[in-house]
Amino acid sequence: MKPTHLMRIAGFSAADINALLRSASALKANPADYIGSRPLAGKTIGLVFEKASTRTRISFEVAMTQLGGHSLVLGSEGSQMTRGESVADTAKVLSRYLDGLVIRTFGQDILDEWASHATIPVINGLTDLHHPCQALADLLTIQECTGQLQGVKVAYIGDGNNVAHSLIEAAVCMGMSISLACPLGYAPQQAIVDAARGGVGAGTVECVTDPMIAVKDADFIYTDVWTSMGFEGEQETRTTVFSGYQVNAALVAAAKPTALVMHCLPAHRGEEIAADVVDGPQSIVLDQAENRLHVQKAILVHLLGDS
Ligand code: CP
Ligand code: NVA
Repeated sequence: MKPTHLMRIAGFSAADINALLRSASALKANPADYIGSRPLAGKTIGLVFEKASTRTRISFEVAMTQLGGHSLVLGSEGSQMTRGESVADTAKVLSRYLDGLVIRTFGQDILDEWASHATIPVINGLTDLHHPCQALADLLTIQECTGQLQGVKVAYIGDGNNVAHSLIEAAVCMGMSISLACPLGYAPQQAIVDAARGGVGAGTVECVTDPMIAVKDADFIYTDVWTSMGFEGEQETRTTVFSGYQVNAALVAAAKPTALVMHCLPAHRGEEIAADVVDGPQSIVLDQAENRLHVQKAILVHLLGDS
């Protein structure tokens, strides 16, 4: 059955993800194929972003253009939502005009509300809890580097946040092993870890507090900001709590010598990642960012395409 929405990674099988990754690789390798066929000609998506974005918003817009479709950024200014029109009514009305929605918001419950009222596919462009489009691009990037996903070890250092949650679900689904080092009180949600462990995925997830333990034998070291959007009020506390969780040269040296460094961006040099690491030869952060475009094209074709 054709999937309706992309809310989070859980619920996708390894076969579903492999199909998306294959499409993304093909779209990346042969751009002329889709530029000629314009698989989303005549289709329009709406981008509702309640938080800032560079990569997600722009790559979705460019993806639609390259696929022959169109996108509209529905900023909060000017929309009747600023004057109290409900998510339910907005989702129902927009479903009469648009072919898909990408939503970046705060609570996952807000995204759920959009999805429950929309009659068109809703794509999670990031919530406080999940960032599935990022995790799919991360899988593509890892696969391009290693040729496979199964058995690959990723160490995630820092905040057990939206990016970490989606990465856990994606890694375990694809038979990878993920080890997360997070300070006490900032571990990923236990329910997400338990569900990943109890699900169909063949991978493993380990949660520790010591970054040196997490990076042992790691093929990839991943980090993200210490203070996510929406949590700015905790910034001062977080800067102190996370001070021992920087991905720097000493930590990278404790992983496999061939280890590669990942970050979803935007990065804060000198905080969660040292400048010489994010800008160094082991960093693949720009490949990750580029792959957002290719994966998003695959997602759009799968959810909005006619076949
Ligand atoms: N990684 C990511 O989602 O970046 P943006 O916030 O710029 O979209
Ligand atoms: N965890 C970060 C990711 C930004 C792409 C945030 O939510 O702000």
